[in-house]
Amino acid sequence: MTVAKENAAMAALDFVETGMTLGLGSGSTAEIFLERLGERIAGGLKVQGIPTSKRTAEVAIENGVPLIEPDKVEGIDLTIDGADEVDPQFSLIKGGGACLLREKIIAHASERMIVIVDQGKMVEMLGAFPLPIEVDPFGMALTAEHIHAALIESGCQDAQTVLRQMKDGSGPLITDGGNYILDSKCKKIPKPADTALLLSKIPGVMEHGIFIDLADVIIIGETDHAKVMELARD
Ligand code: A5P
Repeated sequence: MTVAKENAAMAALDFVETGMTLGLGSGSTAEIFLERLGERIAGGLKVQGIPTSKRTAEVAIENGVPLIEPDKVEGIDLTIDGADEVDPQFSLIKGGGACLLREKIIAHASERMIVIVDQGKMVEMLGAFPLPIEVDPFGMALTAEHIHAALIESGCQDAQTVLRQMKDGSGPLITDGGNYILDSKCKKIPKPADTALLLSKIPGVMEHGIFIDLADVIIIGETDHAKVMELARD
């Protein structure tokens, strides 16, 4: 899988031009991209990046990628990020790495978004990957009840929701923004736009991991090449 991620990351570099401000995604595939981007920068490419997580900021610095605060730029030319699932309409589930809020802010502010994945992330329907939902810790049980109702109302097959824990068992995972993540095991999300709309109306939901109308290009890494798919938007 690493070779596939590597091929996807390399293909994404073809879209990067000197002078660009880049949104820098989070996760293992995005980190491979940062390593390759760092090599190009060492070779003379001039870009600046906005990291979508503290971890991405660290990896960018390690690889010599210049960073800039999001509030200091006039615009973002291109965001390159991974995903947990991608459907045929280029709708995504993101947030497996708990960075979905900042990832969505930066993707939404970008002229273009490129998603780099391996074939295993491509699905006919979103939902097998548990949907991450970032919530304010205050009143979380109440928020969780409304999330459950929204998922069922919008046609999800199931809606079991669990509070994401730290891997070392030290307690609930806290996001970079100081929130919790609820992972909803929907199994199938037949109407992602309906689900996204209902979730976004719930007070306490800071953001959800359904990304619609954000990805312009999907690059699927395979063992010996990468397939580039571009969506024509009106
Ligand atoms: C981070 O919160 C996520 O949205 C990642 O982009 C996603 O989990 C993909 O990560 P990998 O590239 O590690 O699979």
